[in-house]
Amino acid sequence: MSKRVFSGFRPTGRQHIGNYFGTIQNCLCLQEEYECFYCVVDLHALTTLESTLTLKDDVYNMVLDWLAAGIDPDKSVIFVQSHVPEVTELHMYLSMVTPLSWLLRVPTFKEKVRMHSENVNYGLVGYPVLMTSDIALYKGEVVPVGEDQLPHLELAREILRRFNSIFGEIFPEPQAKLTEFSMIVGLNGAEKMSKSADNYIEIAASPDDIRKRISSAYTDPARKYRSDPGHPEICNVFTLHKIFTPGRVAELEQECRRAGIGCTDCKMILAQSVTQYFEPFRERRLRLQSRPEYVSEVVRDGAARAAAVARQTLHEVKTVMNLLP
Ligand code: TRP
Repeated sequence: MSKRVFSGFRPTGRQHIGNYFGTIQNCLCLQEEYECFYCVVDLHALTTLESTLTLKDDVYNMVLDWLAAGIDPDKSVIFVQSHVPEVTELHMYLSMVTPLSWLLRVPTFKEKVRMHSENVNYGLVGYPVLMTSDIALYKGEVVPVGEDQLPHLELAREILRRFNSIFGEIFPEPQAKLTEFSMIVGLNGAEKMSKSADNYIEIAASPDDIRKRISSAYTDPARKYRSDPGHPEICNVFTLHKIFTPGRVAELEQECRRAGIGCTDCKMILAQSVTQYFEPFRERRLRLQSRPEYVSEVVRDGAARAAAVARQTLHEVKTVMNLLP
């Protein structure tokens, strides 16, 4: 029996190139080797959300992108966190073995307090306990996460260790599996590609949209005029060429350095490569979209499979805690 992977993802809507090379490709590899549970954590999103107006669409578009990218509901359990409400019950039990001091020390919590001091709610403090409940409810053994999530995972291990030592060994200690990912720098050339920095290209973007977005990309600032020689080593458009136009990288580098090619042309070539790269993906997405109920069916089936595991775990938990009638 292969080990069980659990991972949760905040519902961020349509996925961009950064998500694709970070998260999605990693999930694709893991599903070949492990039994994977991929969960859209809508309850976690509520801890910092001001409104739920776009929540349903965000969940839908994210799952649709995943499916179009090849995450396979026959191999992996794809579901939405709130569709299996048992997680909130386990959250309650785990909260009783979690010292408040542990939660107040968590770096992401401290940062959110700094950034949104007007909305430090009870749910936000419990964010890592809810995350622990996710992993524990499905007895996740391997948890693929980015570096920023390591403190959360360390806390999850401590909470579960504590539960196990008080009530009995029910939960495996989850191991973090650091996602090796090539960080994609956004179109502004300054920071990680993200929705919040508005420096992204959606993987389902139309060719026209891809062209427009890439046209606005930041390039080598020393290259003011078309005749100035360029410096590909500091140009993010060139970095993206390495991914999307691998066959012409040497040529593009040389042409840029000798001002044989201008930034506009270089960007148009990149737009073409990106368009081509995601062509099969776009086609698959359109095909899946033509069955309006498809995404709902996938997450409904995922929730049913997840719930079977969840009920079993909760039964064990309530047994050892003497909570069953
Ligand atoms: N905290 C994670 C993030 O912000 C999301 C998450 C929720 C998660 N539950 C999880 C990740 C369980 C791994 C396992 O990205």
